[in-house]
Amino acid sequence: MSVWDFTGKRVIISGCFSGMGEAAARELVRLGGEVHGFDFRRSEVPMASFTEVDLRDPASIDAAVAKIGGPVDALFNCSGLAPGFPPLDLMKVNFIGLRHLTEAVLPLMKEGGAITSIASNGGLGWTQRIPLLMEFIAQPDYASAVAWSEAHPDIVLEGYGFSKEVVIAWTLLRCYDLIKRGIRINCTLPGPTQTPMMDDIEKVTPASVLEAAAQPSGRRSLPVEQAYPLIFLGSDAASYISGLALNVDLGFLGSVMTGQIDMRAMMGGMEQGAAA
Ligand SMILES: NC(=O)c1ccc[n+]([C@@H]2O[C@H](COP(=O)([O-])OP(=O)(O)OC[C@H]3O[C@@H](n4cnc5c(N)ncnc54)[C@H](O)[C@@H]3O)[C@@H](O)[C@H]2O)c1
Repeated sequence: MSVWDFTGKRVIISGCFSGMGEAAARELVRLGGEVHGFDFRRSEVPMASFTEVDLRDPASIDAAVAKIGGPVDALFNCSGLAPGFPPLDLMKVNFIGLRHLTEAVLPLMKEGGAITSIASNGGLGWTQRIPLLMEFIAQPDYASAVAWSEAHPDIVLEGYGFSKEVVIAWTLLRCYDLIKRGIRINCTLPGPTQTPMMDDIEKVTPASVLEAAAQPSGRRSLPVEQAYPLIFLGSDAASYISGLALNVDLGFLGSVMTGQIDMRAMMGGMEQGAAA
């Protein structure tokens, strides 16, 4: 069997209704996986099963995972909410629910399993406040993470940037323990991608910021161009990769790191992290 193949693998993918998650679900089915989709909107992808799950409701997550049962070879966390929605909903969907789903699936995962989540370039500032992110991540469960978020509106702000920073920090934190069980965990940081979420992003993000975020190529990603690297990280082809936050942005971060794109000027007074 090829390392790219998903034949015989049981996969859970959240966020399979649209965008990157839908593209990834279609490709995983094509690669032979037994794909089980979760979303709060019914997906048309011909998967082995679809279960309605609202990441704002931990009971719905628990019920869905119990319904699928084990073993699970790969989990893809592709659900997400755009900037502009209530900050607490953003925290619940983009991180608190994502973590709850992952922790519920982990006992069903065998050695060789892989967790792959979508973060964002909107979380690039994560290295500047690691102790604070660790304080939040230390909240042990769904309810305490919600309570912490409610108590810290000055940190959570609009919700998107902070939630994405946490996904990255948590991914890197969890790799240490999980690899001792033979389980890998990674995330991707997409650049601007033409998905239904882009309509919401455009409502709250100046066009100049979105244009700058699509540099140096000058074009947005297609959903499937985000699905391929996600699937790679969740496949056996990535068997020696864990704790990676992979930029999928056609050279954006490379250009920032080498001083060819000035992120401060690009944000132009906008709250850093609010851009997708
Ligand atoms: N589009 C971009 O430019 C961009 C850039 C960087 C990161 N991202 C991230 O990529 C991920 C995928 O987003 P996308 O661009 O494909 O957008 P999308 O809106 O097409 O997909 C998001 C998916 O999440 C699902 N979802 C939303 N709320 C949910 C809830 N409460 N419970 C369960 N599922 C829920 C939606 O139904 C949808 O299927 C998100 O995490 C997003 O933040 C997007």
